[in-house]
Amino acid sequence: MWVCLCEQINDEALADSYAQGLKTVKQLKQAKHLGSTCGKCIRLAKQKLDQLDSSF
Ligand code: FES
Repeated sequence: MWVCLCEQINDEALADSYAQGLKTVKQLKQAKHLGSTCGKCIRLAKQKLDQLDSSF
């Protein structure tokens, strides 16, 4: 599933980034440009990060 369609970031890419230490939307925005085009993915990205936080 796409998390950020504009920047082509899917669930798997988000989980990989999370595992590499990008654990906040701000960090993902700076490093991967998530949310920097239309911004519609921010809410979903936060939900996905919360899920990843609770799974560790
Ligand atoms: Fe992420 Fe547009 S979907 S910036």
